[in-house]
Amino acid sequence: MGRFPQELIDQILDSVDIVEVISDYVHLKKNGRNFKTNCPFHNEKTPSFVVSPEKQIYHCFGCGAGGNAISFVMKYESMSFPEAVEILAKGAGIELPRFNASDGQAESVSAKIYEINKVAAGFYLSFLKSERAGKAREYLRSRGIGSKTLEEFKIGYAPENWDSFKKYCIRRNLSLKLAEKAGLLITGEKGSYDRFRKRVIFPVFNEKGNVVAFGGRVMDKSLPKYINSPETPVYTKSNVLYGLNFCKRGIREKNHVLIVEGYMDVIIPFQSGISNIVATSGTALTERQVSMLKRYTKTAVMIFDADQAGEAASLRGLDILIENDIKVKIVTLPVGEDPDSFIKKNGKEAFDNAVETALGLFEYKLAFLIRKFGIGAIGEISGEMLPTIRKVNNAVVQSDYLKKLAERLGIHEGSLRQEMVKVKSARSRKNEPVSLTARNKTGNFRTSEIHLLGLACAEKEVYKKIQDEVGLENFLDESVKKVIKIIGTCMEPGDKKIAPGKVVARLGGDENAEAALFEALSKAEITDDPLKAAQDCISHIRKEHHKNELKMLTESLKKAQEVKNSENVKILLEKINILHKKKVN
Ligand code: CTP
Ligand code: MN
Repeated sequence: MGRFPQELIDQILDSVDIVEVISDYVHLKKNGRNFKTNCPFHNEKTPSFVVSPEKQIYHCFGCGAGGNAISFVMKYESMSFPEAVEILAKGAGIELPRFNASDGQAESVSAKIYEINKVAAGFYLSFLKSERAGKAREYLRSRGIGSKTLEEFKIGYAPENWDSFKKYCIRRNLSLKLAEKAGLLITGEKGSYDRFRKRVIFPVFNEKGNVVAFGGRVMDKSLPKYINSPETPVYTKSNVLYGLNFCKRGIREKNHVLIVEGYMDVIIPFQSGISNIVATSGTALTERQVSMLKRYTKTAVMIFDADQAGEAASLRGLDILIENDIKVKIVTLPVGEDPDSFIKKNGKEAFDNAVETALGLFEYKLAFLIRKFGIGAIGEISGEMLPTIRKVNNAVVQSDYLKKLAERLGIHEGSLRQEMVKVKSARSRKNEPVSLTARNKTGNFRTSEIHLLGLACAEKEVYKKIQDEVGLENFLDESVKKVIKIIGTCMEPGDKKIAPGKVVARLGGDENAEAALFEALSKAEITDDPLKAAQDCISHIRKEHHKNELKMLTESLKKAQEVKNSENVKILLEKINILHKKKVN
């Protein structure tokens, strides 16, 4: 966390509204003072995910997830703390400090690369309209791309010369160094030259519509078919889904996304009216891509060509979707077809139809394995099926799959289940929901301490009372103690209340402390008279302390008596006597 001063984090948290931040990702419904929705971090049918505009925190009563706007973005986007801070700061118009020269450069370089990429896209686009690009226009027409689509996808053409774009940069006074950094120029022994030449150019956009890279396709059968931008500060191939900027709305509306491989497999279907399609650019889906898609839908339809359909590896790659609670369906295209050619040959309706009748991953995979190994190959089939089933987070669905698999293979469900337990889960420990109930067993003192903690958040007076009457050191639960101390560090003289969102920011990701805070806040929610409630809690805590102390002394006494240490026995008896007389309320 060290990179940003706490005041800056506070400033960001003050400037953003957690309701707005979360609404960018999931649909929130008003519920009294709070907002509610189904938790995006675990599978559920009834909403237990609560966002509090007052407290600027979110909390899921189902899985225990919770935090402030920053931790939400981190969790949802699978981002690091500085990345999430950067995003929120940007949205709030807050300038982040630069701690060293390279850092500062990195930030502005990204902006500059977007800029030069935009210029380059414009250059290729206008060249496509020029006299010298007749062949390219003819090629694109032959591929069925209309002029509206050309404009929309900013498709262009790179001239044949080795230095057309380079000269353009020089004329426009654009930095050649920057053009190199953006991957538009290649540095050779005799200086730099254009990376893209005599190729149809497909700009690659990020989710926001910035041009992050280019793909250039030859117009004949020569190789390589595509040349792509290298990885740059703004482009990581595995982080981009081609078409997502155009299809965000469509994916949300249709509530499923079609996933294909190539640029043309997005462009042609999109042109024919399919507005929920993205491409991975020929690679396996990555965690980052899946987390981007998750914001828009929980159902993915993979469109496989006949080759991929025959590869067990392409099915294994889909487990990443299952792990992310995304429902997967699979469409297999006839031999030799990809979505582009399929639509051209059979029309949009046939394509829609194929999508509608797509098989679920379970059915598809099972049928595939049975075809491959034969129905008798129980070991091979269950060996491939169980890891996938194991990754299904929904217990009902998982159970249903096991039952179906057992039926198909003609074996007992119980033995499959045993087998599955042995299959090591790929889910990392940190992803497992934290159980609140497990921690509750630590002692009954905790209930009061937790409640008191919540009241301290709601009312500054309560905090003072705690300081005076209990003492911050005297909390028995370590997590509660940690939170209560931190609350002290974020109290401003003028504030009546403390901001839980800021407290979370100071907990440094301590899950136990976070859980204690959320439990505390939800308990305090229903209290009318916080001071009175605090008094009750304090009395209870004192009684607990009293009881504990007595217990400890009694135990010591027993030991002293055993070893016949009469001096100690005397002292202890005296102490116990005093404690007994002391009235606790
Ligand atoms: N690809 C690439 N480099 C290659 C081949 C493919 O980067 N040499 C990527 C491109 O993003 C391409 C995708 O993989 O869009 C899918 O490849 P392919 O199916 O071969 O290309 P199509 O997109 O179908 O292109 P076309 O229909 O024009 O042949
Ligand atoms: Mn193709």
